[in-house]
Amino acid sequence: MNLSERIASRIRREGPISFADFQEMALYEEPDGFFASGGGAGRAGRDFVTSPEVGSLFGMLVARYLDKVWQKLGAPDPFVVVEAGAGRGRLAADVLRASPACAPALRYVLVERSARLRDEQRERLTLEPADEALGPFVHGADADDAPQSVPGTGPIVSSLDTVPAISFDGVVIANELLDNLPVHIVERAADGWCEVRVALDDATFVETLVPAPPELSKEADHVAGNVDAPAGARVPVTQAIRGWLERAATMLRRGEVLIVDYADETDGLIQRGSEWLRTYAAHDRGTAPLVAPGMQDITCDVPLGYLRSAAARAGFAVTSETTQVDWLRDLGIDELVAEGTAIWNEGAAKGDLEAIAGRSRAVEAAALTDRSGLGAHKVLTLERRIA
Ligand SMILES: C[S@@+](CC[C@H](N)C(=O)[O-])C[C@H]1O[C@@H](n2cnc3c(N)ncnc32)[C@H](O)[C@@H]1O
Repeated sequence: MNLSERIASRIRREGPISFADFQEMALYEEPDGFFASGGGAGRAGRDFVTSPEVGSLFGMLVARYLDKVWQKLGAPDPFVVVEAGAGRGRLAADVLRASPACAPALRYVLVERSARLRDEQRERLTLEPADEALGPFVHGADADDAPQSVPGTGPIVSSLDTVPAISFDGVVIANELLDNLPVHIVERAADGWCEVRVALDDATFVETLVPAPPELSKEADHVAGNVDAPAGARVPVTQAIRGWLERAATMLRRGEVLIVDYADETDGLIQRGSEWLRTYAAHDRGTAPLVAPGMQDITCDVPLGYLRSAAARAGFAVTSETTQVDWLRDLGIDELVAEGTAIWNEGAAKGDLEAIAGRSRAVEAAALTDRSGLGAHKVLTLERRIA
């Protein structure tokens, strides 16, 4: 049975399923879900371009950000970076290539649920076995002492399919992850919320509305916040953000969660109808979300109000909230572009690789800071609230 047939058979068995369940299967079910079959971010032959896939500049700036957090934490060793939704490992490779000051302390853990994409990470990274992700340990003089990590043995890079069950000082990064978490869709009715479910009309997937279960209605109220949603208005409820943030909270002893994604306030989402739910394939917009499961990405703007409320409920404080363009300016993107131009001017005659990379920084910066594209992404940092 192909993916469409498996989804159809589940609906025949269970009745209409949530949009989140449909999306979960369409994107992640082995072997033919969209990401499970190797679809995703990249240039030629891929489906959409994310900031890391624009070029190396984004990773250089993330490396600067990591150094800032490392210094702020007092230069801990080990300093653990968990990159969730790491795709093919482009960001990790560029961070390491930038040789951040924290590198000797760095344990970089890529977390990617698609086995196909985890395999592709090996083309650009030397990955250590997962049980060595935190590097070598030595035992204390006393048999009862906890084992101590050996300092200065980084960078150590490893890859997992799910977030590790460890607690650490460091950073959890999610670049364009939350928009791909399965989302419930609700519609405002005169007397509460309805849930959009996926049903079958012959062999065609169609929407059907049912009264939203109480737990989903409660979460929908968190999305609406103090916005009075008119009857008929639809909003996304990315409930999976809650679980993800709760796991991040248990991992992070000291440090930050960095979230970069397209996101919108609730009134913006309502004004845009259902435009916040999109599909992509082969660098183009795809067809309707219920058509061709597995053949296209299904992605949803992150509901910002809900993200803030989920963060607070998981015990985080939002410590900064800005746009990608302003975040990258603060990290010194203009200075890196000027440096690249100088490298090009010095090496242009020889046309060596370093000179060409220097020149391409200006083009990359224009894409990364484009206010009608990647530059408009929201960047939030979260820290654990001290009780
Ligand atoms: C839009 S892509 C972004 C990839 C990469 N971060 C980038 O910016 O190029 C989202 C990735 O997150 C992965 N993903 C989705 N949910 C995940 C989860 N719960 N844990 C780990 N990876 C996940 C997908 O398989 C996909 O590779």
